[in-house]
Amino acid sequence: MPTKTLKDLFIHSLSDIYSAEKQMTKSLPKMARASSSPDLRAAFEKHLEETLGQVQRIDQIVETSEVKLKRVKCVAMEGLVEEGQEQIEEIEKGPVLDTALIAAAQKVEHYEIASYSSLIALARQLGETGAAKLLAETLKEEKATDEALSLLAEEKVAAEAMGK
Ligand SMILES: [Fe+2]
Ligand SMILES: [Fe+2]
Repeated sequence: MPTKTLKDLFIHSLSDIYSAEKQMTKSLPKMARASSSPDLRAAFEKHLEETLGQVQRIDQIVETSEVKLKRVKCVAMEGLVEEGQEQIEEIEKGPVLDTALIAAAQKVEHYEIASYSSLIALARQLGETGAAKLLAETLKEEKATDEALSLLAEEKVAAEAMGK
């Protein structure tokens, strides 16, 4: 089915982020395992739990509205995941890899923040208030994750500057 209307665009974008979240449920455990810092590992594990809930929220939108998801693969997320995976393979486990993992994860969060912000605006335009509310809950989690990662990055830089 081609994308013609705003509703089509909403369904396409929702299907795309659904694929993105599913990819993250597989990628986050790998990122957690690759982390040396216990705090970073915990942050990835926490976000894995949230991500599983975010997938469920989209399922809920599908169940309660006239929306039927399309089978699409989020190629943007596929690329981000692949770049993160390359770094896991190329960089020895330790503080440098941790820093690379934080950067890779923040790229993912920023992609998700942009995607959910657009989706919420679309949902509101379409009068899909229930969907907009659920998507806003997810957006809040993505923003909080991004902030937590920023904090971890700053703490790590500070600790390393002090020779820890
Ligand atoms: Fe997410
Ligand atoms: Fe996320």
